Amino acid sequence: MPQTQAAQPPTVYLNGSFLPLDQAQVSVLDRGFLFGDGVYEVMPVYGSQPFRLAEHLGRLANSLAGIRCANPLSNDQWDALFRNLIVRNGGGDLSIYLQVTRGVGPNRDHSFPANAHPSVFVMASPLLPLPEVHRNNGVRAILVEDFRWGRCDIKTITLLANVLLRQQAVDAGAFEAILVRGTQVTEGAASNVFIVRGGQLLTPPKGPLLLPGITRDLVCELASANGIPIQEVALTVEDLQGADEIWLTSSTKEVVPVTNLDGAPVGDGLPGAAYRRIMELYQSFKGLARTGRYQ
Ligand SMILES: Cc1ncc(COP(=O)(O)O)c(C=O)c1O
Repeated sequence: MPQTQAAQPPTVYLNGSFLPLDQAQVSVLDRGFLFGDGVYEVMPVYGSQPFRLAEHLGRLANSLAGIRCANPLSNDQWDALFRNLIVRNGGGDLSIYLQVTRGVGPNRDHSFPANAHPSVFVMASPLLPLPEVHRNNGVRAILVEDFRWGRCDIKTITLLANVLLRQQAVDAGAFEAILVRGTQVTEGAASNVFIVRGGQLLTPPKGPLLLPGITRDLVCELASANGIPIQEVALTVEDLQGADEIWLTSSTKEVVPVTNLDGAPVGDGLPGAAYRRIMELYQSFKGLARTGRYQ
């Protein structure tokens, strides 16, 4: 009988220790488990280099301030932790997930415990590229009512609304749910939204009702630096329905063209010229980031 080697579990970081994923455990009194009282980040790693590290750490700091939790590590400590975990997991292209909760309280009480220490968990998983078919043909999206809370700018681990919204998309055979509050389009269930209209790139402005996406900001930066007109403006359902192109952005999926919205083709029903241009710019930026020249 040929011997099959069991796959090694990935190494993760939990509260000061590096250990195999299957040995990482937290208390049932951890406020992340009881209340979803914590925040998180997802950051891609290309060629063992964290991508947009300063931006992710900046957003983490804002999220922690938003929930009134002290940042348990300095930026240098976070950086060292990520690089350690990248090496321990074989380097290359990875996705880093980190979460900080308010820690373990003495009992189940909503109000902040007096002496809790934040719990810190970080793991590095293989970064799975978006299937080529999605880049070549685009994806389907549906519009759904955004019933989340009023602080969607905080990247909180309390994701039940996002879970339910995303499942509506899955149930409808769609790639993503695009969220609508009143007449305004906010973002995707796990992505930001752009449209192209008459050669102009448009995306909703930042505010409490959407996550300030790191990929969104990079797309805005790349567009501005390369002469693509870009404007941050409120978008309505009609704007999406009349768009030449619609894109979704996120750290793990980069930029994804939406070619079908609620069953109707977007523009001519194929990824557009502006999409191809932004992907060129994005991939060349990533190429530089791999060499450590840019983050
Ligand atoms: C609700 C929501 N909006 C936007 C994004 C995109 O953010 P980023 O580009 O930083 O990954 C995400 C990412 O998971 C998200 O969950």
